[in-house]
Amino acid sequence: MKKLFTIIAILLPVFSYAGEIEDIVPAPQKAEALRGSFRAGGASIKCDPSVDAGVIDAINRFSNSLSICSGKTSYVSTPIGLKESVESGNGKGIIFLKDPGLKPEHYSINISSKVAIIRANDLNGFIYALETVKQLLPEEIYGNVFNEDVRWNLPCCIIEDGPRFGYRGMHLDCSRHFWSTDEIKKYLDVMASYKLNRFHWHLTDDQGWRIEIKKYPLLSQIACYRNGTMVGRDFSSNDHIRYGGFYSQEEIREIIEYAAARGITVIPEIDLPGHMLAAMSAYPWLGCTGGPYEAWTKWGVSEQVLCAGKESTFTFIENVLSEVASLFPGEYIHIGGDECPKTEWEKCELCQAKIRELGIKGDEKFTAEQHLQSYVTRRVQEFLATKGKKIIGWDEILEGELAPGATVMSWRGQSGGQEAAEKGIDAIMTPTSHFYFDYCQSEDAEHEPLCIGGFVSVGKVYSFDPVEGIAPEHQSHILGVQANLWTEYIKTEEHLEYMLLPRLLALSEVQWCAPENKDYGRFVRAVTGHGFKALDFAGYTYAKHLIGVSGDNIK
Ligand code: ACM
Ligand code: ZN
Repeated sequence: MKKLFTIIAILLPVFSYAGEIEDIVPAPQKAEALRGSFRAGGASIKCDPSVDAGVIDAINRFSNSLSICSGKTSYVSTPIGLKESVESGNGKGIIFLKDPGLKPEHYSINISSKVAIIRANDLNGFIYALETVKQLLPEEIYGNVFNEDVRWNLPCCIIEDGPRFGYRGMHLDCSRHFWSTDEIKKYLDVMASYKLNRFHWHLTDDQGWRIEIKKYPLLSQIACYRNGTMVGRDFSSNDHIRYGGFYSQEEIREIIEYAAARGITVIPEIDLPGHMLAAMSAYPWLGCTGGPYEAWTKWGVSEQVLCAGKESTFTFIENVLSEVASLFPGEYIHIGGDECPKTEWEKCELCQAKIRELGIKGDEKFTAEQHLQSYVTRRVQEFLATKGKKIIGWDEILEGELAPGATVMSWRGQSGGQEAAEKGIDAIMTPTSHFYFDYCQSEDAEHEPLCIGGFVSVGKVYSFDPVEGIAPEHQSHILGVQANLWTEYIKTEEHLEYMLLPRLLALSEVQWCAPENKDYGRFVRAVTGHGFKALDFAGYTYAKHLIGVSGDNIK
């Protein structure tokens, strides 16, 4: 009998079928399931010749993956007159058409049993259509290996989609722990799968400087190393293992290009005037006392910051930012501004002389030193404007006088973003309460890998309302939402991915979906079904609290 079951099991392979529209994350604006399916494996792929080269590259990546997985080659062609032939009802295969009527990042998908028609008007629109198509295919598509037990079909459906917010960010701290370019590419891949479009690259901090600056070679010879790292949560400890790394300008360009091909703009952060101890270890004249300084081996907020009283500090900042501005093509450079203690500035003769020279006075709201930081922010903002760049800063930049044109990242709650929006200043919501992915995912800390504290579950991320407490006429100043992944307590790729996923999927619905399209029940079903399988095939580690599994095994 047992033998008979075995024979039947061998004769009846378990086929994986097409995905379902309820499984798409982030949920599309409008989606209607139709009867039937379209055979995608081996389908011809045709693309409007008027699209940009980047669109063809994205389609080629998709067709390569489909060809590998299905074992049937899908050729991509760009025939003249494609649009007319589709309009006259003669389209066959998978067809990509440029549609000037569609807004940026929007797309439509129309799949019948004969033809799958995809329309968009820009690179990101096509990229997101392709990500949706991938989610409609069996999850094995993420494995990128030949799989004969799969029916490479797409469900017939009509989808019209576009994002709620233009800024859909994810941050990564590469200072506290250094992540290789391959690790960053894998991070960008999963961001792209869920339609995020900004990578906030935290490149400098007290514990290590990570970007090559040609004018200051000691940044990548001294400042990128620290003499050991504290162990676990013990602030008095040091493992005495020299730790470091940096990205060459060539590697930076490689990451920018890789991200751009996936619809992601990279925003570099050079955190100033605080969080600069590593740079000061290489160039001690940057500090108020002249050092000596050492890149920090422990976590926290250093009181040693850039001296705002010396012109040489501004020359350094401007030279560094000139190279940064010419490397990164995006419109924004993040200049940090967070957690800058003023103890050194209060004692420093040069900083105090600067305060007098500028006629700065403390007032009932802010100290003279806070106004001095505001002066630093304005000066850097004006300099970057000459390079065609705008600044983003953490919400401390609201302390003092913020010049028009700056964008505020609201991290100490939502109030910074609310205040900014009400003053007509653009803001991005990234409060610790919902979007600090270094916070624990479970209250049962004993069965979790190290986390910084706090508790941010998938449900908490999902529940966020970015415009809460903001009058309708000011809401357009909320450009979007971002989550931050600080890596003090995260050393391995496995741990990093565990902290990121599946919270990133919840973030994507906050960023993408209109409030009426959010539904936590549907989201959890989609994530624990299709989502987890897709992540398994793509080789990611993820937290499984949604299915009652703790993080005991994560190292
Ligand atoms: C921050 O978490 N210090 C922005
Ligand atoms: Zn000083």
